[in-house]
Amino acid sequence: MPKLSIAVFASGGGTNLQSLLDSSKKGAFDGEITAVISNNSGAYALERARNAGIATYHISGKKFPERDRFVEEILKTLEKHNVNLIVLAGYMKLLPLEVVKTYRNRILNIHPALLPKYGGKGMYGINVHKAVIESGDRISGATVHFVDEIFDHGVILIQRTVPVLPGDDPETLAARVLKVEHKILPKAVSMFA
Ligand code: GAR
Repeated sequence: MPKLSIAVFASGGGTNLQSLLDSSKKGAFDGEITAVISNNSGAYALERARNAGIATYHISGKKFPERDRFVEEILKTLEKHNVNLIVLAGYMKLLPLEVVKTYRNRILNIHPALLPKYGGKGMYGINVHKAVIESGDRISGATVHFVDEIFDHGVILIQRTVPVLPGDDPETLAARVLKVEHKILPKAVSMFA
């Protein structure tokens, strides 16, 4: 049995999931991705997981309108795979408090900015890059941090910077940040392992 059983939560395209799958194949960390969970049944991340032969789960508030059932479904899935590390890789929802409590110090999140700047409610995906460009900051980057009860708040494990270039729009900046995300997320998992 591998040392680390990793569950990845993703909501969209899943390029960060892909970077984890690829680096796992290369043996970059001592662990195995055993489950991929999404709130979005149409997420391409789920397709990536299926292509890699990994169990996928669609667990959302819409599918499980009763909150207790929703939380139970997440916890049950994590237990089923004996998960001991959760990675939020482009997960656009807040993880239920019960999950944060149960897996304290065992949840990592990747954020597309240099926290504590540009974190918190509403700061996800392209919104983050819009805010950075509007601020006039010349440097942005990506952060991997432990997840606690407060949005984008837990202890930081790795950060890497990228320049904000003249003429950047949110999309060009997002692409530059995403490249470093793909490097630091597997590195963070390896550090954790
Ligand atoms: C990534 O940039 C990730 O940092 C960000 O969403 C994108 C997902 O891309 N996450 C957040 O904003 C969470 N607060 P991906 O689906 O291609 O990995």
